[in-house]
Amino acid sequence: MSCLIYIINGPNLNLLGQREPEIYGKKTLQDIEQNCLKKAEENNVKIKFFQSNAEHDLIDWIHASREEAAGIIINPAAFSHTSIAILDALTLFEGPIIEVHISNIHKRETFRHHSYVSQKATAVIAGFGIDGYTVAIRRMAELCV
Ligand code: DQA
Repeated sequence: MSCLIYIINGPNLNLLGQREPEIYGKKTLQDIEQNCLKKAEENNVKIKFFQSNAEHDLIDWIHASREEAAGIIINPAAFSHTSIAILDALTLFEGPIIEVHISNIHKRETFRHHSYVSQKATAVIAGFGIDGYTVAIRRMAELCV
């Protein structure tokens, strides 16, 4: 049986491709979703891919993941640095959580160095560009067997 992974993306990631390409690259979120679907198939897992600019949507999807997902891959974007509510929601999830950042947040402004989500994450990937998502899927496929 293949496992289902929720891939949850936070604010402003809908504008990847246009948004600060020198930091985030020129690929769009749709490109990332396509890469993820391909990697999921190769690894015999299923994915559901989400993005919202609203904190409550991310929280609702984390709650929903408790019912059906074996793992969560999350790029909480700016909410990483601000949201205790997202950390609290993730705390209710029992499976593995991989936090992904396209950029290396530790090399950037100091306010990006701390992530609330990292406190709960099984693993953190930062600075791999958009490949961080597919690396996370490969690892999640090992964790959810
Ligand atoms: C990000 C890094 C965050 O600091 C930033 O707010 C984002 C994207 C990343 O993927 O590198 O929106 O999570």
